[in-house]
Amino acid sequence: MTLDVCLNQLMRELEMLATFSDDPAPAVTRIVFSQEDRQARTWLKELCAGAGLSIREDAVGNTFARWEGSAPELPAVASGSHIDAIPHSGRYDGTVGVLGALEAIRALQRAGVRPRRSIELVLFTSEEPTRFGIGCLGSRLMSGTLDPLRADDLRDSQGEGLDELLAAAGFSGPLASVALPAGHYHAFVELHIEQGPLLERAGIPLGIVTAIAAPATLRIEIEGEGGHAGAVLMPDRRDAFLAAAEVALAVESAAKATGAIDTVGTVGICGIFPGAVNSIPSIATMLADVRDIDLARRDAVLEAIRNRAGAIAAARRVTIRISTVNADRPAEASPLVVDALRSSAARQGLEYQPMVSRAYHDSLFMARIVPAGMLFIPCRAGVSHRPDEYAAPDDIERGVRVLAMALARLAE
Ligand code: GLV
Ligand code: MN
Ligand code: MN
Repeated sequence: MTLDVCLNQLMRELEMLATFSDDPAPAVTRIVFSQEDRQARTWLKELCAGAGLSIREDAVGNTFARWEGSAPELPAVASGSHIDAIPHSGRYDGTVGVLGALEAIRALQRAGVRPRRSIELVLFTSEEPTRFGIGCLGSRLMSGTLDPLRADDLRDSQGEGLDELLAAAGFSGPLASVALPAGHYHAFVELHIEQGPLLERAGIPLGIVTAIAAPATLRIEIEGEGGHAGAVLMPDRRDAFLAAAEVALAVESAAKATGAIDTVGTVGICGIFPGAVNSIPSIATMLADVRDIDLARRDAVLEAIRNRAGAIAAARRVTIRISTVNADRPAEASPLVVDALRSSAARQGLEYQPMVSRAYHDSLFMARIVPAGMLFIPCRAGVSHRPDEYAAPDDIERGVRVLAMALARLAE
């Protein structure tokens, strides 16, 4: 089978998708259920309809575009990713896996393939945690990992509820209906940029993911005492932000203390109340992100942060409350999908390397209910979650071609 990826069209579509953004180019900001996200979804559904795919949406806005196989009663093969983009990020994270899967389907159609199993493109809702604090909302619900009752209660920082946002975006039905039964899909494959530098450094065009690291998020709320920045003397202070700063440093030192290069810890959000230059912060709220490919080691870091926070609270006479937003286990790729990707790369004479995904993806949760795997392509200097994120057209083309062949094989 010769597969002809229409790279010009795909690059135009990636460019078009990047225009649905809340920030000017080259930055992309597309928060789930924002006007831009909703417009992008409408545009994408038109593209899918143009390729003859039939569309279904579930109660949380996960969108499925199906290319019917000759045996539609068999579990389908699925591929997809996300289009929501964190503030001030780039145009390739997630989008390559969505538009790339669409192009893979179109390339198979052009090649005259008639798959036995249906092939379904999946657009997951809110892979990014920006709006609701928790990532992979759509795939968590699909895989039964997140209690629908907990999801019902989610609110964004403006106080808008998930239920209201879903209704405004035209999605309805109980969130409990989002869960897919085991066996619903035959396999799931996600194409994604690596978001790290290893492929580029090695000069290898493809990575076949063997495992996805275990992510965790802690919400850290610190309450001290506010007051006048001039009048309250230093010995009398209970500054919430200074306690937060120490906890942030504790996140860094706990991650480093494992001695393992695979442990990472980040405080990416810190809010201070009341936020005036001449006012001592009375409340600080932080979100800490901790990951490792080793679950026990990751959990030990979370424990170390909690312990250190207890000592900081006592020393600074503040209250520190830490809650776990998520603490997920890692996932392993399925041999079924890994083999399909390997043989697809090999048949096209392309070199690949097995690798661990340090970023999380909807595949982390899909892997719990379906044989799942991921294909990585290089991105320049490993840069991601930044406006200068870049993947070369040739790399995208190779990724789509290997994805298409793997989907065809899995759908045989
Ligand atoms: C996904 O965007 C992640 O933070 O790994
Ligand atoms: Mn991302
Ligand atoms: Mn992503």
